[in-house]
Amino acid sequence: MNWNQWFGLTKVCIVFVVLLLATLAHCAGAQNSNVAVSFQQNYLATTDANHTRVLNGGLVELVLDQYSAAAFGSKTSYLFGRIGMGIKLVPGYSAGTVTAYYLSSPGATHDEMDFEFLGNVTGQPYGLQTNVYANGVGGREQRINLWFDPTVEFHYYSVLWNSNITVFLVDDTPIRTFRNNEALGVPYMDDQGVGIYASLWDGSNWATDDGWVKLNWTYAPFIASFEDFGVDGCEVVNGDTQACVTQQGMWWNLPQYQTLNANQIQALHKVQSDYLIYDYCTDTTRYPTTPIECALNWYELDL
Ligand SMILES: *[C@@H]1O[C@H](CO)[C@@H](O)[C@H](O)[C@H]1NC(C)=O
Ligand SMILES: *[C@@H]1O[C@H](CO)[C@@H](O)[C@H](O)[C@H]1NC(C)=O
Ligand SMILES: *[C@@H]1O[C@H](CO)[C@@H](O)[C@H](O)[C@H]1NC(C)=O
Ligand SMILES: *[C@@H]1O[C@H](CO)[C@@H](O)[C@H](O)[C@H]1NC(C)=O
Repeated sequence: MNWNQWFGLTKVCIVFVVLLLATLAHCAGAQNSNVAVSFQQNYLATTDANHTRVLNGGLVELVLDQYSAAAFGSKTSYLFGRIGMGIKLVPGYSAGTVTAYYLSSPGATHDEMDFEFLGNVTGQPYGLQTNVYANGVGGREQRINLWFDPTVEFHYYSVLWNSNITVFLVDDTPIRTFRNNEALGVPYMDDQGVGIYASLWDGSNWATDDGWVKLNWTYAPFIASFEDFGVDGCEVVNGDTQACVTQQGMWWNLPQYQTLNANQIQALHKVQSDYLIYDYCTDTTRYPTTPIECALNWYELDL
């Protein structure tokens, strides 16, 4: 290679590197995790290769059959951010199956935020149940129907989570909020790093309690698909959760993410009026006294 060729190649390389850096800078500024990040970068399979199928770094299938449930989880833990995943649910006959996507810390006083997709017989709608545990206390189930068929395409299910509010989102629609009401004595998830988990399992026993149809192995294997493995959140490094609490300048802490805006409140109310099928807040058999956070979390007092 002579000097001119070398110089020409160097120029090409510089242009390439500049473009690459520009792309990376753009990606770092993106506000959701639709950036192609490989599964292996942030996650590990926790069941065998026939049940957690890593098809390529960007697409993973969980496979439930008579032999095993299926799962994967993150390598590390996070505190605050917008944490979500693209999920396409088990198509056809999925009754009795539960596809779970959840964030959880370990231990008895753990924090946890759950999406649980409850399968149904062919042609009938999935139920999406969400729950929140703060300092080990859960029992805050809400269940909605979705306004689309979640088995046809990937949809992005996520939690926008900061020290003011936790918003459960389906694509960009808020379906639930859990606000920081520590001042009123309601525990909030703001000091524990959570791992990110996905699983597909036989929920027949649990589901049948509510009178739903059991899982039928004739229709196995049951397969749910996952994508979007980037994590737009604060990673807890060496157990230092405080670093995520005091971290300044991350987009999810900005004032516009500390509460819902008027459009989001309207969207949340539409979910509440049109799609809500169970809410612990109105289950007076379970909770004769309405939990203190309920009115605040549906934003009724703000209107
Ligand atoms: C996966 O399934 C194949 C075919 O049934 C079997 O040979 C193999 O041992 C299985 N692998 C694991 C990791 O279970
Ligand atoms: C299954 O569909 C039936 C009929 O539409 C509905 O009543 C039931 O709630 C659905 N099951 C779940 C788990 O959502
Ligand atoms: C499972 O589905 C098959 C095929 O539709 C049906 O013949 C069978 O009766 C079902 N089994 C149960 C336990 O419902
Ligand atoms: C978010 O929390 C901080 C600290 O408690 C508080 O100063 C701020 O007013 C809250 N933001 C909103 C929109 O309530």
